[in-house]
This record gives sequence, C-alpha cells and structure tokens, in this order.
Amino acid sequence: MITVKNLGFTYQQANSRVEALASISVDMPGNSMTAIIGPSGCGKTTLLYILAGLFPPSAGEVLIKGRPPRAGRPGIALVPQDYGLLPWKTVRDNVALGLKLRRMPAPVIRQKVEDMLERLGVGETIDRYPAQLSGGQAQRVAVARALVLDPDVLLLDEPFSSLDALTREKLQETLLDVWTRLRITTVLVTHSIEEAVFLGHKIIILSGQPGRLVAEVENPCFGRPGARYLPEFYDICKELRALLGPAPGATGPARGYPAPALP
Ligand SMILES: Nc1ncnc2c1ncn2[C@@H]1O[C@H](COP(=O)(O)OP(=O)(O)OP(=O)(O)O)[C@@H](O)[C@H]1O
Ligand SMILES: [Mg+2]
Repeated sequence: MITVKNLGFTYQQANSRVEALASISVDMPGNSMTAIIGPSGCGKTTLLYILAGLFPPSAGEVLIKGRPPRAGRPGIALVPQDYGLLPWKTVRDNVALGLKLRRMPAPVIRQKVEDMLERLGVGETIDRYPAQLSGGQAQRVAVARALVLDPDVLLLDEPFSSLDALTREKLQETLLDVWTRLRITTVLVTHSIEEAVFLGHKIIILSGQPGRLVAEVENPCFGRPGARYLPEFYDICKELRALLGPAPGATGPARGYPAPALP
C-alpha cells in the first residue's frame, strides 16, 4: 500500500544543507500498523511528512496506493509531534475543522466529534481550549481530530510520548482497539521499543544521520491477547534493542547483550 523506493531527503537553506534521509526502500502494508523507530534526529518526522505529502522527496519516490502523496488529500491524516491544535479554537472546533472543510452537515459533525472524543476518553474536554488540556489530553484530541476524518492512512508522530507509563499503555490499547475495528493503514513513529512491539505489525528501524534503514522486523506478537506478557514480546524487544545499539552516552551494555569492549 505504501511503497518507499530509494528515498532521500535533504533540508536546504540559503547556506546550509542537512541530509536527513538516504536511500530508504521499504514497503508498509495496507490495513496494517507499521512502527518506525530510531534515535532522535534520524529523520522519522521527515519521513512522516514526506508520506503526508508535505515535503517532496529529494531523491527516489513514495507511492501510496500507487500515487505520490499530496498534502491535503482527504485520505491521509497526520498527527504531528506537537499535536498541531489551534490554540484559539475549542476542542470541539479543533476536531470539527476537517469535517467543516468537507462541508458536512452541522448535526453530523457534532455527533462525530462527540463520539470520537468519548471513545478516546476526553469527552469532558470538549468546550476547553488547548491551553487548558494536559499533554495526554491534547494528544488524544489530536488523534481524535485525525480519526474523525475516516482516513485511509493515519500517520502518528510519537503520539503518546508525553504520557506517564500507565496512561501510555492504556492509550496504546485504545489505539489498537480502534485499529482492530477500522483497520486503517497506520504508520506510527516512536522512540519506545515496547510501543513499537505492541503497536507495530511490521517494525522499521532507522539509524544515523542521514537516516538509513537498519532492518525491518515482522512482529508475530502484534494484536495477540496479552501480547505484552508473551515471551516472544520480550525476545523482539531484545532484538530491537540490539539493532538500535546502546543509547548515546551509555556506558553499560544494551540490556541482555554483552558490553562492547572498552578501549
Ligand atoms: N527545517 C529543518 N531544516 C534543517 N534541518 C532540519 C529541519 N528539520 C529537521 N532537520 C534536521 O533533519 C534531521 C532529521 O530531523 P527529524 O525531525 O526528521 O528527526 P526525528 O527522527 O523525527 O527526531 P526526533 O526523534 O527528535 O523527533 C535532524 O538532523 C534535524 O536537525
Ligand atoms: Mg521527530
């Protein structure tokens, strides 16, 4: 469904060039969830923006259902890393925005917005402004704003990063539950190994700057009941940890792996 071929992207300003992505080729299956993981600065957000049609590739191509993505195409919804909520609009108006642009009748919009906010557990925030929300509530409102558009492709940039561990797990389950019902082709960027293994049917690992493809992992734990408690879940987390290498500045070994020899 999403094909990325020899993709390269360079940010070019008057007197500087930053190569963000180099030679990435990968397929992301339709009606499935793909997780992208990699260290900070490896180009995950850039890749998502290219998939959303906001940035044209500098090299190679991206095809979604056989066509290059185009910003504003109704089928693609992006939840940006900073949520992208308009501060001067209430939660209701933020979530309704895309539906209003589609000129849907007001009662239909009202119903859809209320249902989606309830489903994501933030129904009580409907008349508040973004500044009156906690980080986790703002993230859920941003996800609601994307889902209410019934997208074919949902692009999520670290949607749960500002949450405490328990709320995060609960929302991961909500997202999986929503996905199980709607089967939207979803691409989720994350820093968290456990999140990638819980929410990625396929997991794409990027590294370095420019970001390059390190590996693609098919995840047999995806969607299985009690996935987090399966021995395979732990095994795949270990595999990802090894592929990602030790965190920058870490002196100890990546958990479960021998320490690198010190000079
Ligand atoms: N507008 C820009 N102009 C120049 N360089 C940029 C711009 N936006 C991002 N970059 C650089 O491109 C590289 C990739 O950035 P990107 O935001 O895609 O990384 P990321 O993997 O999403 O990082 P994080 O995990 O911290 O969100 C980084 O080196 C970043 O500094
Ligand atoms: Mg990012």
